Amino acid sequence: MNLQTRIEALEAEVGAATAGNADEVERFRVATLGRNGSITALFEDFKQVPPDEKRAFGQRMNRLKELAQNRWKDLLAAVEKNTSTQEPTTADPTRPALAEPVGSLHPITLVRQRITDVFARMGYTVSQGPEVEDDHHNFSALNFPPDHPARDMQDTFFVESSEGSALRTHTSSVQVRVMESSTPPIRTISPGRVYRNEAISARAHCMFHQVEGLYVDKGVSFAELKGTLAHFVKSLFGPEVTIRMRPSYFPFTEPSAEVDMSCTVCGGKGCNLCKHSGWVEIMGCGMVDPAVLTNCGIDPGEYSGFAFGMGVERIAQLIYRVPDLRLYWENDVRFLEQFSDGAFRA
Ligand code: PHE
Repeated sequence: MNLQTRIEALEAEVGAATAGNADEVERFRVATLGRNGSITALFEDFKQVPPDEKRAFGQRMNRLKELAQNRWKDLLAAVEKNTSTQEPTTADPTRPALAEPVGSLHPITLVRQRITDVFARMGYTVSQGPEVEDDHHNFSALNFPPDHPARDMQDTFFVESSEGSALRTHTSSVQVRVMESSTPPIRTISPGRVYRNEAISARAHCMFHQVEGLYVDKGVSFAELKGTLAHFVKSLFGPEVTIRMRPSYFPFTEPSAEVDMSCTVCGGKGCNLCKHSGWVEIMGCGMVDPAVLTNCGIDPGEYSGFAFGMGVERIAQLIYRVPDLRLYWENDVRFLEQFSDGAFRA
C-alpha cells in the first residue's frame, strides 16, 4: 500500500474512532500515536518519499497527527464526563424515581396507638391534661392521705410554677379532670407522659408513658372490668393469652388488683421473661373508690365505675423486648428506623 492510500485510510479510521471507557481511549492512543502506532510508522516511511514530494506529504502527515491528537483528547473528555456523573449517555424518562428516605413513628407512639385503638373500638374517648399538675388533681382528689409515701420527694418531682406544684406521677389526674367536668356515662382513656423521681437505668426511667382508663355509669361491675381487660389483652397479644387478677392496693380504688397476663414467650410454662412463673404483670386496676367519685362531684349512690392504668414502655417491652429502656429516649435513628414496619428484631 503506498503512502497516499495509507494516509487516507488512517484519516478515515481516526475520524470514526469511538471509545466507551478510559481503557479504550488509551488503546486508541497507543494504536495510532504510540511508539509502534500506525501514524508513528508513517513518519518512519517518510524517509523514502522522493524529495520533491516531501513537502506535500509532510504537511498532510502533520495534519493527520494533529487530527489523531484532537480525537484522543475529545474521547478522553467524553469518557471522563460520563464516569464522573454516572449518568447514562441517554436519559431514560421511564426510569422509576429514587425513593426518598421517609421517617417512621417512634416505637412508643406505635404501641400507644395500638392500645388506644383497642379501647376506641370499645367506645372509649381519649382525654388529655397538663403534665404540670396541682396537688388536688394528682393526689388529694384521688384519696391520697396527706402523708402518703407517693407524695414523698423520692417519688414526685415538685416544681414551682403558676400552673401547678408537681409533674404528674400518673394520668389518673386527667380522669379527675374528666369526672369534674362531665356527667356519667363516662368512658375515657388518658394516654400521656408521667414523671417519677427514679434513678435512670436499663430497666427504669424518671419519665415514662401511661394509658389509664375510666368507666363510670350506673351499675358498672368488677366483672365488666375483668371482661374489658381480658378483651384488651387478647386484642393486643392474641386470643390464646389469658389474664389473672391479684388483690392489691391503690388509694383511689376499692377493691384494687394487679393484672397479670399469661407469658407470651413460654405460653405459661415458665421462662426468663416471666421469671419462671408463667405470668407477667401488666397493669393496676380496681373499682373507683366512692370517696373519689364524691370528690369529683359524682354521686356514688347512683354511679359506680372502674379504672385501670398501664405503662406503655412495659407493654412495648413485651412486644419488642428492647434490651435497654434508655434506647426509647435517646432517639438514635439507627434504633428508631427498625420500627418502621412495627416489628423490631433484637
Ligand atoms: N395510677 C396507677 C399508677 O400510676 C395505676 C392505676 C390506675 C391503678 C387506675 C388502678 C386504677 O400506678
